[in-house]
Amino acid sequence: MALSFPGEQLKTKKMPGHWVLARLGKRVLRPGGMELTRRLLTRLQIMPTDEVVEFAPGMGITARLTLQAQPASYTAVERDEAAARIVTGYLRSQNQQCLVALASDTELPSASATVVYGEAMLTMQPPETKREIIREAARLLKRGGRYGIHEMCLLADVEQRNDTKRNLTGVVHHGVSPLTIDEWQSLLESEGLKVQTVDHAPMRLLEPSRIICDEGLFGTLRFGFNLMRDREARERVLEMRAEFRRNRKKIGAVAITAVKE
Ligand SMILES: C[S@@+](CC[C@H](N)C(=O)[O-])C[C@H]1O[C@@H](n2cnc3c(N)ncnc32)[C@H](O)[C@@H]1O
Repeated sequence: MALSFPGEQLKTKKMPGHWVLARLGKRVLRPGGMELTRRLLTRLQIMPTDEVVEFAPGMGITARLTLQAQPASYTAVERDEAAARIVTGYLRSQNQQCLVALASDTELPSASATVVYGEAMLTMQPPETKREIIREAARLLKRGGRYGIHEMCLLADVEQRNDTKRNLTGVVHHGVSPLTIDEWQSLLESEGLKVQTVDHAPMRLLEPSRIICDEGLFGTLRFGFNLMRDREARERVLEMRAEFRRNRKKIGAVAITAVKE
């Protein structure tokens, strides 16, 4: 049976944190929030001549902003079928599509895109998959094409990274494996992408002021109302927020753009 919502088949206690938040009505699931997303989109400068590929659109919030720029084509690549169905609901023309596929193996033609971007989707991958996804982005891009990422980054001493990763993974119930900003840049450069811009923001995904900025007043009220009604989900959210707060000096959010040489 087709799922109508991502993670629907899982128990709240076991569900990856992003789907717990989405089920409660949260739509923005990236570490730097809408502010960093807007900065990333400003850097990418999507225009009507662009052929855009978005990796892992989730609930389709950035997809909607990108579509407002009326690119020549828009292709989303999302591994979760229910999320892909939600994103498809925002698509309006034949040159817009959402594929259910892995970003590491899209089966799209090489050199078919002028812009590729993805948010909050590399941090959750093991090292080899991070590289495969970035390699796939580079394969899809035409020469001179732009790649944008928006991910969690490590600010603290590299020595503490295993503790941080373990603690975050423990509450999110999904791999959380951020890199330092230098490591993100090196990874992109090692796949033939020349870094152009780097922007950062604090990791405040679950702080009330950030939730209001990201979800708006109505969205925040909906989230708060759903939180009050669902004890198990509330416990998960509070646990995640406590861990994010404990690690606030060790983790942040980064948006990087790079060009295929
Ligand atoms: C934390 S959510 C972020 C969603 C959205 N980009 C955002 O920032 O709000 C992670 C998303 O990545 C998708 N995802 C994870 N690994 C993927 C992969 N290898 N290929 C495509 N999508 C993937 C998940 O299904 C989910 O939609």
